[in-house]
Amino acid sequence: MQAKRQTSRTMSTIVVNVARRPDLSHAEFVNYWRDYHAPLIRSCPQFTEQLVSYTQYDVHAGPDDLASLFGGSGKYDGVAVLRFRNRHALEAAFNCDEYRNTIRPDEPNFVDLENCSAQVTDAVDVIGAPSPLFDVSGKTAVVTGGARGVGAMIAAALCEAGADVIVLGRGARAGQDFVTGLEGARGSCRFVEADLATSAGVSAAAADIAALAGKVHVLVNNAGSFAASAIEDADPDGWDRLMGLNLRAPFFLVQSLLPQLKAASDPGDPARVIMIGSIGALWGNSSNGAYAYGASKAAVHQLTRMLASDLTAGGINVNAIAPGFFPSDMTDGFFEAVPGLREQMIGGIPAGRLGTAEDIGGTVLYLSSRAGAYVSGAVLPVEGALWQA
Ligand SMILES: NC(=O)c1ccc[n+]([C@@H]2O[C@H](COP(=O)([O-])OP(=O)(O)OC[C@H]3O[C@@H](n4cnc5c(N)ncnc54)[C@H](OP(=O)(O)O)[C@@H]3O)[C@@H](O)[C@H]2O)c1
Repeated sequence: MQAKRQTSRTMSTIVVNVARRPDLSHAEFVNYWRDYHAPLIRSCPQFTEQLVSYTQYDVHAGPDDLASLFGGSGKYDGVAVLRFRNRHALEAAFNCDEYRNTIRPDEPNFVDLENCSAQVTDAVDVIGAPSPLFDVSGKTAVVTGGARGVGAMIAAALCEAGADVIVLGRGARAGQDFVTGLEGARGSCRFVEADLATSAGVSAAAADIAALAGKVHVLVNNAGSFAASAIEDADPDGWDRLMGLNLRAPFFLVQSLLPQLKAASDPGDPARVIMIGSIGALWGNSSNGAYAYGASKAAVHQLTRMLASDLTAGGINVNAIAPGFFPSDMTDGFFEAVPGLREQMIGGIPAGRLGTAEDIGGTVLYLSSRAGAYVSGAVLPVEGALWQA
């Protein structure tokens, strides 16, 4: 199953010329955008929930290349770039009642798909790639457990940023849905069914990856499971299962994929292994009896440092991210089990919120791109200062 890279024009990004307002001075026009456009868009949740991003560029005072592309005629004061996950999301936004009934009649400068001078194109071709420091286009990334939860946030960020992503997981249906949702992204996405809880499953997954990709530039070992119980109720089989998935699988996936990681490594641009550890391995708190979980993640952190020590000289950087609390089936499970825990948890996070897809995705992009090429052996907490609180 694969969402293919778009080579022709895509409907997922729309670039809109914002018509000139000769009645407004430049400063008034900037204020008008800030005080009128932005609140207008925010007031329309049906529309914004389909948006990945909305960016307004002030061509009047903007960079020369934008001005010459859009403003040279003097007909435009600016350009807005609206990014949607895919064509379906774009159509859903423009067809929603809120947009049709509220925004469109009131805002002549906003997008009028039929009549305005909107250009439907791929923003990358028009305004250039994001900073090359964070560029991952053309890289092959493997994300274990990448169709759900934190792994899905990571896989989507890599794919949106141009990587060719191979997502591993047990659920074929969820995998297919995830791949479909990424159609129209800058990169591509494929799903490979894999059960990483057993050694045989890890070997099979490594063979499948090797058959798909001669080079693996980024390996994100994300798949994991959580369990907690009173010490009296902990059982050895459950302990072994959890350790198999959380600890054995990441190590032996690295071992099995060494040829593909080495092949992807270039001078100045090493291959990257990113382990997903946990705040649960930074603090002493047992998290209501998550003994095997905390121990497995602490071992992942130590494995990260040891692998970095051994592999960095050979062109493979190894780092770990220690997430705090991100919404997922895993956290929903314990938030549901303990009434009020979610609010209590958020109250204890100095940043005042749970983590988001941007928080974890941005960290992975940093570690995967030129920006992170000199970082190896780090365990990076991404937790809104919860650990320090
Ligand atoms: N969410 C948080 O706040 C948080 C905090 C700290 C650390 N983490 C870590 O982040 C990672 C992802 O957690 P999450 O919150 O997204 O959990 P989740 O919602 O429970 O997702 C677990 C992921 O692991 C995959 N997985 C589970 N068993 C597997 C198996 N036997 N073989 C292959 N894949 C398997 C699942 O995919 P399938 O079901 O498709 O197999 C799923 O994608 C874990 O390592 C977790 O410890 C999460």
